[in-house]
Amino acid sequence: MSIPVVTVGATHEAVVDGLERLHGPVTVVRRCAELTELLAACQSGLALAAVVGDGSEELTTTLVDRLGAVGVCVVALTDNPDETKRLRSIGVVAAAADIKPVVLAAEISQAVERASRYGQAESPRSTGFADPGGGSALLPQATEVPEEPDGSGRIFAVWGPAGAPGRTLLAVNMAAELAADGQSVILVDADSYGASVSAMLGLLDESAGLAQACRLADQGLLDLEALTTTASEVYTKAGSFRVLTGTTRADRWTELRAAALTLVLERARQLADIVVVDAGFCLEADEELSFDTLAPRRNASTLRSLELADVVFAVGSADAIGVPRLVRGLAELEVAVPQASPRVVLNKVKRSAVGYAPEQQLDDAWNRYGPGISIEAYIPSDPEACDAALLSGSVLLETAPESDIRHAIAGLVCAAVHQKRRSFGRSTRALRRLKR
Ligand SMILES: Nc1ncnc2c1ncn2[C@@H]1O[C@H](COP(=O)(O)OP(=O)(O)OP(=O)(O)O)[C@@H](O)[C@H]1O
Ligand SMILES: [Mg+2]
Repeated sequence: MSIPVVTVGATHEAVVDGLERLHGPVTVVRRCAELTELLAACQSGLALAAVVGDGSEELTTTLVDRLGAVGVCVVALTDNPDETKRLRSIGVVAAAADIKPVVLAAEISQAVERASRYGQAESPRSTGFADPGGGSALLPQATEVPEEPDGSGRIFAVWGPAGAPGRTLLAVNMAAELAADGQSVILVDADSYGASVSAMLGLLDESAGLAQACRLADQGLLDLEALTTTASEVYTKAGSFRVLTGTTRADRWTELRAAALTLVLERARQLADIVVVDAGFCLEADEELSFDTLAPRRNASTLRSLELADVVFAVGSADAIGVPRLVRGLAELEVAVPQASPRVVLNKVKRSAVGYAPEQQLDDAWNRYGPGISIEAYIPSDPEACDAALLSGSVLLETAPESDIRHAIAGLVCAAVHQKRRSFGRSTRALRRLKR
């Protein structure tokens, strides 16, 4: 079968003419005047590949991802080495502007074949991209653009249902404890409904670091240096960690698109041992409510963070409202992100909400109504310590270093990072004290 191709850009018409004269293996089905027309043509299912002759600078990660989602590979013509590097970082096959039509046709065929081999869902990085950089074999510039190594850092996502169960408090203090443990850490505020990491840490920064990083990633410009500059540095007495602050105005959630966030998190993995993500609560796949497949998705940042996470902490409030919510939330999580195997954390554990011997009570209720996943940790309620930390824009290891809540969080996250499934002695001891 001849591969249907759409093209854009008048400058390289000779190349497109040459493609047409080949009479296979590709067929130019439409020449578009601009990228929006090309996008519409691709969305209508007209093509399997797009050749961008002019205006490759307008290609962004989001656009390439959307084209990939409708099964279209993108090949762009450029002689600029920086642009070539940028294009490849966002999943575009870059070819020299004076490429011979027969070589271009071979590039297109290979790109289409790779895409069909991997499929969207099964691509090696599961990012929804066409194999980034995979078209290098025929490219003269391939040797000049070395492949980026995969990051070895791990992503810890902190998620929990609605009702403020303590996601941000846990994420912030986990980051601080990991830094104190000697890990290099980036904390990412990906809550698209109520970003509050910067408020909790007393940062005056209003620049929405994550949105900035996403913008750079979308343009293919987020290298390690740019990420380092975009992130704020937070110092505690026991160590420092970086923070990508969230969108300060809730209506800026449109800036956190899945494809760009994927690149940010992948880049963060290269920069840090552990990337802690404060995810939002909502798991609805809102594009199902819309026929506009290009529309940004409000819950994309939460869903993508959970999809990419190595460890998901599922946090619920330990009370009569929070526990049933968490049980329902875990069922939704199972459907939305089946690969996540959440570690259940019950937070704000206190006798006044649960009764005498709260751990036992919670355990009994969980065994009766819970989803069959055991509770990994109980974090005691300590409003005084939490309020003091919030008031001073600090973390528990500074404001309440000897508190049970601090030890419980440290025990939980350090156990996860050292890959040991310990019995969380400190948190259990903390609860024992509560029971007395
Ligand atoms: N273990 C705890 N003991 C006492 N207070 C707590 C505890 N954990 C969290 N809190 C308090 O609960 C409130 C909500 O916490 P946090 O902002 O972390 O929740 P969230 O799940 O991130 O909520 P949101 O839905 O707003 O994102 C804060 O005032 C915090 O200090
Ligand atoms: Mg929060």
